[in-house]
Amino acid sequence: MRADNDSATSRSDETGEADTQGTTMPEQQDRWAQLTEGRAGEDYARRFARLAESGHDVHGEATFCDALLKPAARVLDAGCGTGRIAIRLAELGHRCTGVDIDSSMLAVARREAPAQDWLLGDLARLDTLGLEPEFDLVLAAGNVIPLLAPGTEPTVVRHLASLLRPGGLLVTGMGLDAAHLPLPEPPLTLADFDHWCTEAGLTLSERHATWDGAPYTPAAGYAVSVHTRSRAGSTDGHLT
Ligand SMILES: C[S@@+](CC[C@H](N)C(=O)[O-])C[C@H]1O[C@@H](n2cnc3c(N)ncnc32)[C@H](O)[C@@H]1O
Repeated sequence: MRADNDSATSRSDETGEADTQGTTMPEQQDRWAQLTEGRAGEDYARRFARLAESGHDVHGEATFCDALLKPAARVLDAGCGTGRIAIRLAELGHRCTGVDIDSSMLAVARREAPAQDWLLGDLARLDTLGLEPEFDLVLAAGNVIPLLAPGTEPTVVRHLASLLRPGGLLVTGMGLDAAHLPLPEPPLTLADFDHWCTEAGLTLSERHATWDGAPYTPAAGYAVSVHTRSRAGSTDGHLT
């Protein structure tokens, strides 16, 4: 399945304003909003608090990213939700900005870490948020990519890639089957995703089945991927 049709570039804005064809188009909701109606923040935070209390390691994503980074790196947590990963990365010394479209999720992040940077915004319109580029790492963990609005995925990947410095890393975690997604079926394949990344100037550097680095196999049902933004004049995709 390939969503080459980049619908975000022709959509109207949240107000339902007329597009360039003169027609009025409704804004397409992201799949997360369709599932949660924008009210999931407190429940989501409680779920992770319970997991932590019962002894689970809830910091796998942050530990994975930290291992890829130099000290005090700049990190964009795209689809940061309640901020659980960006907060941990900040505790580890990194400079993090979180962006999410769900105000119930961001309300938790702002309450838990008021001094951190949290932006309410749509990843499909990331270029409108005035973010300084040259991030060392952009993270989209917790099924952010499969939970985007249908058709916006290539645009989002392009925006995420454009905010990386040359040699910077896009780190994603996503389910590939119903057992690893809050959806009845996967809306995209890894081949789709890798294609969008290639189109955006990214090269696959690493792929695992879990955040603790288990080897990826198609049967795993989950992929943790690291894509690298090519350095000017180089396409080797090596980590720096
Ligand atoms: C399952 S939550 C994961 C949150 C966080 N990354 C984590 O791992 O805890 C998916 C998040 O993606 C966000 N999201 C989905 N589409 C988005 C979009 N177009 N712009 C910004 N955030 C989006 C949702 O609002 C939600 O907070």
